[in-house]
Amino acid sequence: MNIDIFTLFPEWFEWFVSQRHVANAIASGSTLNCIDVREHTPLSGGQVDDSPYGGGAGMVLRVDVIGAALQAHYRTDPVALAHRRRVIALTPGGRLFDERFASELAGERDITLLCGRYEGFDERIIEHFASETLSIGRYVLSGGELAAMVVCDAVLRKLPGALGDESSASEESFSEALCGAPEYPQYTRPAEYRGWRVPEVLLSGHHDRIRRWRAERSEERRASAPRLS
Ligand code: ADE
Repeated sequence: MNIDIFTLFPEWFEWFVSQRHVANAIASGSTLNCIDVREHTPLSGGQVDDSPYGGGAGMVLRVDVIGAALQAHYRTDPVALAHRRRVIALTPGGRLFDERFASELAGERDITLLCGRYEGFDERIIEHFASETLSIGRYVLSGGELAAMVVCDAVLRKLPGALGDESSASEESFSEALCGAPEYPQYTRPAEYRGWRVPEVLLSGHHDRIRRWRAERSEERRASAPRLS
């Protein structure tokens, strides 16, 4: 899959793309491309934002700047682009990101993420240049860059080849294999530490019993965390 990220801080992603599962996804054919919005601004002095009409604190990302960046990169009208490509504006009030949303995006060939900064986007960016909005949670970050990394992390690890062990993404929290429930508890050696023993069933070697035990624990967790289901 190809992910384009429009940002004022492309250097933030240098560390991110060096992380193993991201690097694996890229080595397996995915691309993660950062477009520096400031490089495309038609305004002097690298200006990208302005004070809000009607007054108020902070600065708002300008619609003409994002329009110019999208037009320059895709060489097409950004309004038309948003009708045929998922162009996602990252904003705290957007559609909440969850595992289902991540799977949906992992099924796309191309996506675009627009990172806001300062007080956010001029609303016309969201109305005309974005196909949708996305929020990683109901809190305000100082920009969309960390949200973009969260989205890329959750999406890219679903692609074949991103994780070393192919089975590790299929049975994790909220996966289809667990009927959308949180993952069951996991244990590793030692079998006993400070008197805390690993559940006997996991040491038993009875695969059916283990499968049943895990399904039950997973369902228990769903029941005790209703907002997760
Ligand atoms: N930009 C600022 N805060 C954000 C959030 N919570 N989710 C997505 N993008 C954001």
